[in-house]
Amino acid sequence: MLRRLHPVQPDSFAFTPANLEWARGQISKYPEGRQASAVIPLLWRAQEQEGWLSRKAIETVADMLGMAYIRALEVATFYFMFQLQPVGSVAHIQICGTTSCMICGAEELIAVCKELIAKTPHTLSADGKFSWEEVECLGACANAPMAQIGKDYYEDLTAGKLRDLIARFGKGEVPVPGPQNGRYAAEPLSGLTSLKDFESGKQQYNASAQRAVDIGDTVKRIDGTEVPILTPWLGKAAAAVEAKPKRATKTSEAAAEGAEAPAKAPRATKKKTTEGEA
Ligand code: FES
Repeated sequence: MLRRLHPVQPDSFAFTPANLEWARGQISKYPEGRQASAVIPLLWRAQEQEGWLSRKAIETVADMLGMAYIRALEVATFYFMFQLQPVGSVAHIQICGTTSCMICGAEELIAVCKELIAKTPHTLSADGKFSWEEVECLGACANAPMAQIGKDYYEDLTAGKLRDLIARFGKGEVPVPGPQNGRYAAEPLSGLTSLKDFESGKQQYNASAQRAVDIGDTVKRIDGTEVPILTPWLGKAAAAVEAKPKRATKTSEAAAEGAEAPAKAPRATKKKTTEGEA
């Protein structure tokens, strides 16, 4: 996607006093000569303040960091998280359109955005409150389809639920983010298939902590009283070692060497061949 500065730009940009103080704090984290390292946090703060990044905002950040304008412009135009055009005053809705979400109904969510906000992405709604865009995977595939609205994820969406969310945002509400279908997190839709003891209250801690509690583990791990934890294959290996005859006598050593003879032969052959080649 071509990312260019918006054709209509404000004449000026200035951080609010609080944001300016915050920005100076960020810059102070870096050693002398490395202030440019603060470019992303400062651009992000400018975007949080204005909703999007204007040329003046990008140049102001560049000036604060002693950077050439083109260097700050490179960063702002490279990362999709930076909005280069005005966004809705209430919310900018980012619909994930990648595979999992697409299979689970992202196109229906985009249709809702087209109907309720604007026919094209990065366009303000008639009342200026909303804008939308399709984005790449946001890493919440197990809760597809989903959208990022502002800084929050709204997951397990349907067209109806997205309509409802947009209506509530429009009224000034802030709907609770996360799964919108009653899921706690990303557990199976049909309920837990594992960790059921935890759900039923039989298990109080996660598996490794529970095991430590069950066996009475202590901080002093090897004190001679711990319960040995043997795996089945280790048990078998130990038994096999026990069963192997020991080389206690010359007779048994000879028998053992006889058994190893075939293994030695190829080594000798190899050496001979090497010498012959030399
Ligand atoms: S595919 Fe949508 S969050 Fe990954």
